[in-house]
Amino acid sequence: NRPLYIAPSLLAADFLHIDQAVDLINDSEADWLHLDVMDGRFVPNISFGMPIIAAVKKRIKKTCDVHLMIVEPEKYAADFKKAGADLLTVHYEVCPHLHRNIQQIKDLGMKAGVAINPHTTISQLENIITDVDLILVMSVNPGFGGQTFIPQTYQKLHELRKLIDQTGASALIEVDGGISAHNAAEIVAAGADVLVAGSSVFGAPDPRAAIHALKTATK
Ligand code: DX5
Ligand code: ZN
Repeated sequence: NRPLYIAPSLLAADFLHIDQAVDLINDSEADWLHLDVMDGRFVPNISFGMPIIAAVKKRIKKTCDVHLMIVEPEKYAADFKKAGADLLTVHYEVCPHLHRNIQQIKDLGMKAGVAINPHTTISQLENIITDVDLILVMSVNPGFGGQTFIPQTYQKLHELRKLIDQTGASALIEVDGGISAHNAAEIVAAGADVLVAGSSVFGAPDPRAAIHALKTATK
């Protein structure tokens, strides 16, 4: 039985009270804090960048899981390390030199992840899978919180789990978008190690209880 990690996404928190969101996460069963950086170029939305992450870092006690939805991530990798990223994930779709991006992130002293959009196939990961610490499978089109989980993700998770087992890779499988206590067990059964959840946590009447429900999700 693999451990299950829960990574609430700050994107769904009240940005006027980020300190309260951080305290809530610190005082919950969450394992990581997921930080969504959007540039208005790779994705049709702009979120936040290094200054917010650096401020959060001063208070958060959990792993900072930074999801870069930006073009040319190599330009900013060192800045995200400085801001406090423990794990830095770049998108497959914007990295023609993905192997180099992964090496850069590792050389900077961070764990390295690769995110794939819903249309990107698992077979495209064959030549990078043993180099990464994590694969982030997007279960919605990136750019916005509160979207509906795309069911084809289940098949991709099965394929990815198989690829990891066959290659002996140690990458964790993280799933992001449209996750709640209603589908968490099925996503974990399909192969997920890490569940990201924004609106189902911060939109809940009791966010800590929502995190607990995710953490204890089993088939
Ligand atoms: C979407 C982001 C997600 C988002 C998830 O582009 O990558 O991390 O915050 O939000 P929910 O859980 O509301 O789908
Ligand atoms: Zn994300």
